[in-house]
Amino acid sequence: MTTIVEPTTNTRLLAWVSEWAEIFQPNDIYWCDGSAEEYDRLAGLLVETGTFTKLNEAKRPNSYLALSDPADTARVEERTFICSTDEADAGPNNNWREPTAMKAELLELFTGSMRGRTMYVVPFSMGPLGSPIAHIGVQLTDSAYVAASMRTMTRMGAGALNALGDGDWVPCLHSVGYPLVDGRTEVPWPCDGDNKFISHFPETKEIWSYGSGYGGNALLGKKCFALRIASTMARRDGWLAEHMLIIGVTPPKGEKRYIAAAFPSACGKTNMAMMIPSLPGWKVETIGDDIAWMKFGPDGELRAINPEAGFFGVAPGTSDQTNPNAMETLSGNCVFTNVAKTEDGDVWWEDMTPDAPARLTDWRGETWTPESDTPASHPNARFTAPVDQCPSVAPEWEDPAGVPISAILFGGRRATNVPLVTEAKDWNHGVFLGSIMSSEKTAAAAGTVGDVRFDPFAMLPFCGYNMADYFQHWLNLGDSSNGAASAAKLPKLFWVNWFRRDEDGSFMWPGFGENARILKYVLERLAGNGDVIETAIGNIPTADSIDIGGLDLDDETMNKLLAVDSESWQQEVALIREHFATFGDRLPASLAQQLDQLEQQLVA
Ligand code: GTP
Ligand code: SPV
Ligand code: MN
Repeated sequence: MTTIVEPTTNTRLLAWVSEWAEIFQPNDIYWCDGSAEEYDRLAGLLVETGTFTKLNEAKRPNSYLALSDPADTARVEERTFICSTDEADAGPNNNWREPTAMKAELLELFTGSMRGRTMYVVPFSMGPLGSPIAHIGVQLTDSAYVAASMRTMTRMGAGALNALGDGDWVPCLHSVGYPLVDGRTEVPWPCDGDNKFISHFPETKEIWSYGSGYGGNALLGKKCFALRIASTMARRDGWLAEHMLIIGVTPPKGEKRYIAAAFPSACGKTNMAMMIPSLPGWKVETIGDDIAWMKFGPDGELRAINPEAGFFGVAPGTSDQTNPNAMETLSGNCVFTNVAKTEDGDVWWEDMTPDAPARLTDWRGETWTPESDTPASHPNARFTAPVDQCPSVAPEWEDPAGVPISAILFGGRRATNVPLVTEAKDWNHGVFLGSIMSSEKTAAAAGTVGDVRFDPFAMLPFCGYNMADYFQHWLNLGDSSNGAASAAKLPKLFWVNWFRRDEDGSFMWPGFGENARILKYVLERLAGNGDVIETAIGNIPTADSIDIGGLDLDDETMNKLLAVDSESWQQEVALIREHFATFGDRLPASLAQQLDQLEQQLVA
């Protein structure tokens, strides 16, 4: 690949690129234009280095398989840092490093880290080009895999540079930390597996990432920018950057409403975003599956955009049964990372088909048969696919003005205690419910799967500042004395849980397309209909106000799904007290009061 003429007159950008080129010391510099030809060229290079394997063109056109280094398969939360001047501003929810010291340490690692490689300059827009809700970033990276993935995941290239003009961007530095020096040769997945740093400098809006080439560690527009840095921008400027899907829901002959939902990683956002409702005549349309940026419009409505242009979705468990829209989205123009390969050059992952193929190459590149005792695909194997290939995509998904949000759902993976659906009594109570959310850990991050941890608003790994201040920010947005919208225009807030289990360990709720029944209830509540029972934790539907027609669910199961058990909730309150205590006196007083009220009501 040859160095091409710089395609911008933004002098600060040009200066920044050459300043960093001197530090990284790449062999050459390449400015990405975002064209299809460029993508094909990058893919060709990746095939040459063994990073990509081209899949069977007849079965999976223009698609590739990538197998990562086993030391680089997920986000690394313990290597993720928020570098604010004051440690208290990062909060107990983040690992903190002093910014100057962090930069000095990383500068040493960055110096010469791109030797023998190309430095890609990747301009990108998070959000539709030119949208008032969108923001521009520029990533420098020595990974062609990252540059190619950014083309699918964001509006990348010439269009973004054009939208940037002479303006400001969020500078994103990324090196896999594998310079080709001292006789080192290229490997399929270069990384510095034992020495990763995913560092954020919120006060200067900078991202410095070293050592990993995987997902949210390396595609810096996603979690690093669109959540960690954007959450700090949102706090300052009065908006919201959230780990939420966005859907449009249309009842039979009814009016379309937009709903956002925050579920932790690998807890069902992509599935809900592409849901095919089991209820006849209902329609669900996709706007986004992972991140929502929301601003109050002049009319007081909360308007949301999906800042991304692609899906980086969990592959295992995705099938024609659970998520047919995803399966169709994946019919071509995709990258699959850490899934298994079939003998005819296609992909497979756990539960993609009822029976596993007789013989596969697993994600480690080894022969696999159904008798093997390890999974064929990594539990955090992912697909990268363009949003506009999704059959359920809403025609307005790129509307620069965003869509008006009527309800927000919070949900986690909880085997016990948390009912199928709970409606907040009001905005502040909804913020309280968001703040006490917890979930079982999943394979989306390195660590022990299954441990229950508090994950407020599904933002624990993604809030770029002290979570207590984040709670206060949410409270402020609903406070009309702060100039916020009238209560009537605020979205209604709900807590949901698809993952409650029976004594035998099986899920009691069928989930997936059947979650439409809960959407139906939510829309009824928005219209002022549907019955509720007031409980200590919020308003629970009466058993017969959820449409379970045609489902094989007995009354006993339905009661269990909606139960609020006083004794186990008292135990939960003790844990919530510990969780709140980590924030010390930074915790908003009104949340502490709501916890006291909850405890009193449980005893009463
Ligand atoms: P990230 O991309 O990591 O943020 O994850 P996500 O929130 O988009 O999760 P996703 O939709 O990819 O689902 C993760 C896992 O949860 C998959 O294995 C799904 O099969 C499973 N899942 C999704 N929805 C449901 C549901 O309603 N019920 C049950 N039981 N499982 C579900
Ligand atoms: C998540 O973990 O919530 C993801 C995947 O969406 S990653 O982009 O790797 O963070
Ligand atoms: Mn996510």
